[in-house]
Amino acid sequence: MRIIEAQDYKDMSRKAANIISAQMILKPESVIGLATGSTPIGVYDQLTEGYKKGDLDFSKIHTVNLDEYKGIDAENKQSYHYFMNQHLFSRVNIELQNTFVPDGMNENQDEECQRYEKLIAGLGGVDLQLLGLGHNGHIGFNEPAEVFVKQTHCVSLSEKTIQANQRFFESKKQVPKQAYTMGIGTIMSARKILIIISGEDKAEAVKKSFGEEISPHVPASILQLHHDVTVIADKAALSKLDI
Ligand code: GLP
Repeated sequence: MRIIEAQDYKDMSRKAANIISAQMILKPESVIGLATGSTPIGVYDQLTEGYKKGDLDFSKIHTVNLDEYKGIDAENKQSYHYFMNQHLFSRVNIELQNTFVPDGMNENQDEECQRYEKLIAGLGGVDLQLLGLGHNGHIGFNEPAEVFVKQTHCVSLSEKTIQANQRFFESKKQVPKQAYTMGIGTIMSARKILIIISGEDKAEAVKKSFGEEISPHVPASILQLHHDVTVIADKAALSKLDI
């Protein structure tokens, strides 16, 4: 596990975008796993800049997103689908048919989860997976649990996650209670993983994830076992970790 200290959010975003850019330049037909939340917005801005400068070409890139709220359609402004269109897909030359997000409107959980797993396998797996980190150590929407769930599944969101995500909705009542997410095994199958973290409010989660024992109660701690994981975190987020 490589831990790279960034000065601040902007520096973290630039460093992460550089790694994604290198992946895209070395393999223009890469499959990139994408994340939502506020943390990756700066990375998507940097990638857009790279495209505008003519340094990056998304025409052969495929993307698979980590997760999506259940019961929310792609046109809904709170959906992760909408988020991706807004922050990246509509700003670069990616083919929309090459971008994939779990279908939050599929009521049939088993069908949707199997479909998404097959889809990822059909693309040849993920070359580089971008992740953020939840305050309770979640990755994607893999919440703290008794066991690590391997494949794409439907989760009931924890109270902490609902509270944290409330800021994107008009009221807490509107925050969906369930979501589809890649499983821990799906994430760990990526050939490379890049996790980005910013802010002092994440320092405890960083310490538990990367400085303590591996436990399904802290889902991100499993990343300690991945053979190619890069953590890019700013000073504030790293403030409780001994490195
Ligand atoms: C959400 C997403 C995660 C994300 C996390 C942190 O719950 N499902 O993929 O990493 O929140 O979000 P933020 O970056 O806004 O702190």
